[in-house]
Amino acid sequence: MLGNFSYKNATKLYFGDDSLKYLNDELPKYGKNVQLIYGGGSIKKNGIYDEIVKILKDNGKNIIEDAGVMPNPTIEKLRDGIKIARDNKTDLLLAVGGGSCCDYAKAVSVSVNCDEDPWDKYYIRFEEPTCDILPVGCILTMAGTGSEMNAGAVITNHEQKLKIGHVFGEEVMPKFSILNPKFTFSLPKRQMVAGIYDIFNHICEQYFSGEDDNTSDYIAEALMKSLIHSSLIAVENPEDYEARSNIMWTATWALNTLISRGKSTDWMVHMIGQSVGAYTDATHGMTLSAVSLPYYRYIMPYGVKKFKRFAEEVWNVSIDGSSDEQVAEEGLKAMENWMRKIGVAMNISELGAKEDMIDGITEGTLILEGGYKVLTKDEIRRILKDSL
Ligand code: NZQ
Ligand code: ZN
Repeated sequence: MLGNFSYKNATKLYFGDDSLKYLNDELPKYGKNVQLIYGGGSIKKNGIYDEIVKILKDNGKNIIEDAGVMPNPTIEKLRDGIKIARDNKTDLLLAVGGGSCCDYAKAVSVSVNCDEDPWDKYYIRFEEPTCDILPVGCILTMAGTGSEMNAGAVITNHEQKLKIGHVFGEEVMPKFSILNPKFTFSLPKRQMVAGIYDIFNHICEQYFSGEDDNTSDYIAEALMKSLIHSSLIAVENPEDYEARSNIMWTATWALNTLISRGKSTDWMVHMIGQSVGAYTDATHGMTLSAVSLPYYRYIMPYGVKKFKRFAEEVWNVSIDGSSDEQVAEEGLKAMENWMRKIGVAMNISELGAKEDMIDGITEGTLILEGGYKVLTKDEIRRILKDSL
């Protein structure tokens, strides 16, 4: 049952190969001091940085540089970013990059005016912001996380070996996001396919929960079909604009709160994958692909009807006279073939995980209860061993 809910998505999107020009429409809405957040330098190599700096200067902004946001941003970097924003009286946090830059900007936004350390407040106690939140804008250069239109912010604490996401309320969503599919062309292929698998898994995490006849599931199936189709084109020809646009748009809709309406949602692949990430610092999408098949094969018997529907609707499996389980297994085989074809990581050993990390990764995995089976720590350990 869809149940009762309210729905609002606060982010304004500009999409297309001319979308950067709309930064000129957004900038006048905010004060003079713009904290320009970016990563390790890809935007300097591909020229996006120069284009943005010109627009900022044309609009009379003070540019406050905040570079070096690493993939899987750390709590130490977050503390630096908060200090930069305080010292410079930042009016707008402008993130240019993938999910790491967008997440980091949101984490800074809820912390600048707050006295307490963000790790304890947001990532251990999961409190909501009680201070003024700085506005965030995103210019996306990698499709995957959906961070451009959601309120999630994932931060890694290497000292505590924890990687934790906080999903804030709509007031933390970016005020605007600019999505130019051409900006993703310079991504290395490995990052592109990691992003594609991240998108796919976001849809799965919401789809594999509940058994009702729910509009969200029909939308999810359509998104998965579009993604599978476009991913195969993009892997062959990364500069196919149509395929890259479809992937970028699917990423946004896969995790912008729409298809979770009426769903309890699972998120255990993400919980296990994030704990793998805390130990290996591996690329987010790859940590998900590496644990997915052992996880889904393990929980399939508890949600067999949905896995059968997945096989038939998403992978066009049709075998007469077979049991629901056999159809469901064929669906997972088809998913495995697709994963191998696009070239994602198929086990955690290739990401640097070792047998002696399994207990720690298990301990660091948060257990959520929305999926078909509430896992015990022993079951998580078993899934991780099967993922080695
Ligand atoms: O740092 P630079 O030099 O920019 O290089 C980045 C980085 O090395 C590179 N890159 C990005 N765009 C590029 C490019 N290289 C060349 N050309 C371009 N156009 O790609 C690398 C990865 O970037 P990153 O932002 O880390 O990737 P992604 O978008 O996958 O973000 C991952 C982070 O988002 C979190 C993950 O846990 C991880 O910390 N997530 C956020 C979510 C959310 N907000 O809802 C949900 C997700 O499930 C995820 O957990
Ligand atoms: Zn993800």
